[in-house]
Amino acid sequence: MRGYAVTLCCSLFICWGLFLVPFTTHAMDLHQWSEQEKIVLNSLWIGSLPPLPEDPSNKYSADPKAAAFGKKLFFDIRLSGNLKVSCATCHPSNMNFADNLPLAHGMGTTSRRTMPLVGAAYFTWFFWDGRKDSLWAQALGPIESPVEHGFTRTQCVSVITENYKDEYEGIFGPLPLISLGDLPLYAKPSFEEPRALKAWVSIPREKKEAITLVYVNMGKAIAAFVRTIVPTPSRLDEYVEALINDDAPAMLKSMTNDEVKGLRLFIGKAKCTNCHSGPLLTNGSFHNIGVPQPDNLPRDNGRSEAIAKVLADEFSCLSRFSDARPADCAELRFIDTDTYKYIGAFKTPTLRNVAERAPFMHAGQFATLRQVLEFYRDLKPEQRSADLEHGGLTDLELEQLEAFLRTLSSPLKFAE
Ligand code: HEC
Ligand code: HEC
Repeated sequence: MRGYAVTLCCSLFICWGLFLVPFTTHAMDLHQWSEQEKIVLNSLWIGSLPPLPEDPSNKYSADPKAAAFGKKLFFDIRLSGNLKVSCATCHPSNMNFADNLPLAHGMGTTSRRTMPLVGAAYFTWFFWDGRKDSLWAQALGPIESPVEHGFTRTQCVSVITENYKDEYEGIFGPLPLISLGDLPLYAKPSFEEPRALKAWVSIPREKKEAITLVYVNMGKAIAAFVRTIVPTPSRLDEYVEALINDDAPAMLKSMTNDEVKGLRLFIGKAKCTNCHSGPLLTNGSFHNIGVPQPDNLPRDNGRSEAIAKVLADEFSCLSRFSDARPADCAELRFIDTDTYKYIGAFKTPTLRNVAERAPFMHAGQFATLRQVLEFYRDLKPEQRSADLEHGGLTDLELEQLEAFLRTLSSPLKFAE
């Protein structure tokens, strides 16, 4: 009898050993995080996102009336040379504000890919090369670009006066009393378009100033809207929240084992968080990670050529159109001017919703996430900066990283 009990015990034990132990310890190990790792996970969590910052250079940045007006302008195709292009042409709201093209297309084709807008208000520098230092200064770029809206600030004043007079005046005060009928409308200070430049020069100084002020206010309203585009919790956020609450079933429910293995690689061996850090999964700064230049485009030096541009920008934080005090413009005043360091460097993109917006990189060089990951893996040691040291990833690890990147999607929220 005793012998039987022992045998039964043993066989039960063996059964547990064979099936349950490997299952439970494995699952537990996978979800067991060190204190240090928990700090990193917490930093990626959406709950670590600070409140939406206000932009001191734009006193309307948090004004809901300005955001509502800016939203109309964002979708308004009348602000374009062919009456077909609005901000939403390249940043459609039903596609995470991106167009899924390698190179953006407006009146013509640009030499870079459309950037995501989620969480844009948290950044210091805008565009792939950071040649603008505020969302309002950024918004004024595409409107006068011949390949995007193909429009002019003078034409903008005409559209505002005809269609948005009350709305504009309710926020910014009276529109200037200039009779646009007497002015050349295709007029802007653009060296790319000599005809428009000549027309601009012919306008009297005080009128140019008044036109530019309306244009600036338009940018400030658009920026107030773009500022409201923020992420909602993704499955990564659910996982981290469950970890914080010590809620094991919720952890298991929010991410699969492969996704969690990918997360472990992302913050560990693959060192992706060296640059893709914080709740938006970006450090917002510039790195040359060796993405190949497309053959059909002129050489793009990225950040190195943008430093002088942002310092000289007529709409910078230190410009007369800014609402900031010079003390508020520390980022611009203390900008790193080491141009050589930034040759071929581009802004680290947010990875929120990354799986929804192929192709990837500043000129859409890679069609799939798999190709991006293979690019990282195959970088030769001499091409790798210290920040890109990931110690040889296997095919299975690339699959796990990709599975993890797919957990970063969630619907976006923005001003109604
Ligand atoms: C023709 C397509 C196109 C149009 C139209 C367009 N954009 Fe973009 N957007 C882009 C491209 C391309 C980039 C990156 C350009 C670069 O780096 O030089 C970009 C970048 C941005 C960024 C920078 C994001 C970041 O993280 O740095 C913001 C913000 C933005 N656009 C908002 C707007 C707004 C607001 C409008 C309308 C006033 C607009 N865009 C019109 C294609 C477009
Ligand atoms: C040294 C900083 C750095 C590190 C480390 C890094 N990245 Fe990046 N990542 C960037 C920059 C910069 C870009 C944009 C480069 C460009 O367009 O030329 C980028 C682009 C991407 C993109 C494309 C996103 C898009 O919208 O185009 C993905 C996906 C990505 N990285 C994932 C990863 C993963 C996964 C790792 C870890 C294996 C990683 N990155 C490590 C800086 C970094």
